[in-house]
Amino acid sequence: MNNNVTSQYDFATHIDRRQHPTKKWQQYAADVLPLWVADMDFVSPPPIIEALARRVDHGVYGYGDVAATLRQALCRWSRDHYDWAIEHDWQLWIPGVVPALNLAALAFSEPGEGILTVTPIYPPFLKVADNTGREAQQVALAEPSADGEPWTLDLDRLEAAIKPNTRVLLWCHPHNPTGRVWSAEELAGLAALAVRHDLVIVSDELHCDLILDAERSHRPLGQLHPELAERLVTLWAPSKTFNVAGLSCACAVIADETLRQRFQQAGAGLMPGVNVLGLEAAVAAYTECEPWRQALLEELNANLALVERYVERWPGVTLSSPQATYLAWLDFRRSGLGESPQNHLLEGARVALSEGRDFGAPGFVRLNFGMPRTWLEEALNRLDGVLGA
Ligand SMILES: Cc1ncc(COP(=O)(O)O)c(C=O)c1O
Repeated sequence: MNNNVTSQYDFATHIDRRQHPTKKWQQYAADVLPLWVADMDFVSPPPIIEALARRVDHGVYGYGDVAATLRQALCRWSRDHYDWAIEHDWQLWIPGVVPALNLAALAFSEPGEGILTVTPIYPPFLKVADNTGREAQQVALAEPSADGEPWTLDLDRLEAAIKPNTRVLLWCHPHNPTGRVWSAEELAGLAALAVRHDLVIVSDELHCDLILDAERSHRPLGQLHPELAERLVTLWAPSKTFNVAGLSCACAVIADETLRQRFQQAGAGLMPGVNVLGLEAAVAAYTECEPWRQALLEELNANLALVERYVERWPGVTLSSPQATYLAWLDFRRSGLGESPQNHLLEGARVALSEGRDFGAPGFVRLNFGMPRTWLEEALNRLDGVLGA
């Protein structure tokens, strides 16, 4: 993608997000730059803003419904981007991905049975077992090697962690926080294990439209392994890619009717309908925002290059480059800053990062680089003041 495409859109303006209550910007004091929670500081694509304005102008905001145009839009997106022919009735539109993780535990396991996931992992995965009265089971990913191998899935270790009571595997694909885009071999191994041990896989593919590495592409687990249909829930949403997380709109894609019914039944009376604005935004995202997404990927790659340049000069800090997402997972274990480096960086640099311990990995921090370049530069310069050699 050339610079002309990038320049059609505004990824540079500093938007004052403190004028509205937000999770990201109000958590810390006014002099802190927040690079923690996973939303971006860019304005959403123009077609989304226009669709929302039209809907707001209408003035009546009663209960919404999922339009056939939205189901059609997701079918097309799936076919065009991922060569996966999903159907209208596989789609259960829901207000969030995290509720679906918890609902899956309720739907596909009994109290006390095992919910397995890998670490490090997006923190709500680690809370599902406790939330639902199940047994938490975890296995560590294999760490990056000195010669440039990224984070990988160790299939032997995964299989060893599966117990007779394990029922559900919560899987993140691409992976938050490492940004790994899993290989076909890793996914084939995972699929075989799920079949062999009769597990339901919940594949959280929320970051799948944010592949940064041009050499890689996202392959939905359901497309690569149709044999998983009777045991697979795929979670998608426009929220991360198009920066509409606050509009609470996601989709559980479930091909198998029995599995779908069990999931729906578990949510009966608990899972509210989707916000009417979220539904409008989703249609616009999946039908009109591909050029914006391409431009975004250019911006994010340039931001990542900047992060990498800084990290190289920080002694004892390493980064295995994310292949997807706008998140950099930094290993601070040899930095001399102890198990909670983000506290030190918050104090010393006035930059807020996410704490590795919450992801099951003390000594790491997660840095969100989805923000205007000049802001990112300011944050990196501040960190450099503390960490630079
Ligand atoms: C992998 C992953 N799943 C789920 C979520 C949250 O999704 P939702 O806001 O739809 O619950 C996030 C947000 O950062 C995420 O990174």
